Amino acid sequence: MAKNPLHTPLCDMLGIEFPIIAFTHCKDVVNAVVNAGGFAVLGEAMHTPDEIAADIKWIRSRVGDKPFGIDLVLPASVPPTGDLDELRKKIPESHWNFWLDMKKRHNIPDPRGQVALHQWGGLNQEIARKQLDVLLEERVPVICSGLGNPAFILKTAHERGIKVFGLVGKARQAKKEAEAGVDAIIAQGIDAAGHTGPVGTFSIVPECVAVAGDTPVIAAGGVTTGQHLAAALCLGAVGVWTGTLWLASRESDNDMIIKEKLIAATADDTVYSDCISGFPMRILKCTWTDEWAKDGAPKVLPAPYQMLLSSDYIQAANDHRRPDLMTEAAGQGVRFITAMKPARQIVFDMVAEALGVFEDLTGVAPE
Ligand SMILES: Cc1cc2nc3c(=O)[nH]c(=O)nc-3n(C[C@H](O)[C@H](O)[C@H](O)COP(=O)(O)O)c2cc1C
Repeated sequence: MAKNPLHTPLCDMLGIEFPIIAFTHCKDVVNAVVNAGGFAVLGEAMHTPDEIAADIKWIRSRVGDKPFGIDLVLPASVPPTGDLDELRKKIPESHWNFWLDMKKRHNIPDPRGQVALHQWGGLNQEIARKQLDVLLEERVPVICSGLGNPAFILKTAHERGIKVFGLVGKARQAKKEAEAGVDAIIAQGIDAAGHTGPVGTFSIVPECVAVAGDTPVIAAGGVTTGQHLAAALCLGAVGVWTGTLWLASRESDNDMIIKEKLIAATADDTVYSDCISGFPMRILKCTWTDEWAKDGAPKVLPAPYQMLLSSDYIQAANDHRRPDLMTEAAGQGVRFITAMKPARQIVFDMVAEALGVFEDLTGVAPE
């Protein structure tokens, strides 16, 4: 019998059974993955401090003392303060006109509700700081930063027994964060859903492993099968960080239209563009991304202004449930999302597939 290749240092660090991390915005997915033996991180960048505190309580009531994480965005490049209306006034008229023209040509209605951006941590540094204070106060087991270097919170977090993980898209960021003392680095490739850097997962993971010293590296970007998990471990990662994988899960609270789009999608249906937020990200193609890719489209605005512009479109698309307009962050591994499986089954399927790979490679069944 060979040793279990899926029992990695990440399992020991977090006290988990499988080196699989789910990034999700849905508390039910967190609950299911953590209770299935994986680890899960709830994205809370859009939530008020009170909502974050309530979500932490909800998760704790279901997972007991099993660890989980909360993810925020902490970009240093956004303004220190400023509310939504104030910031919207700074968007050039040419950009508003581009959007209004698109709106007319595609018959896009006004959003029904208020644009859900008031509490986005990427709007200004003051909001992100208040969100962060809740995580520190609540002593969540792991804090992750999707955008921005979390080095400035390390001392306070570690004093409270909190681990800090940083997401990086370039090896030099990984080196900087490892030297600062983060507990793990998530090396995220261009294959990934959401904000991500320009290097492919197959290159960024070993590049980060090479510069991270003793800091463990977790692979992200395009990981949707057990084969990907096995490959990530072969590249030197201690586990995988996954996002797209959970979007169409039974527990996910995504709109059914989005779940169906994801199940039908392949890598060709995704696009890497900064037209949503001003930072490059991978999402499902939609009317907005098509329009910004055309010759003659204005220059994309820096964060947070581009997100303020796109938020009217996204809110309208979701409020009116227009499949042609709706989009979601999605990685290039989306082709392998073929059914709305329960999150627990997704974990177990990935584990079984990865163990099968190692057995095929070595000819020995793992323990
Ligand atoms: C819908 C969605 C939203 C995301 N939003 C964030 C975010 O707010 N913060 C963050 O750190 N990562 C975010 N990500 C990226 C994930 O953390 C993760 O790195 C990525 O999904 C990995 O690539 P994969 O989707 O190919 O598995 C998001 C991913 C998805 C699918």
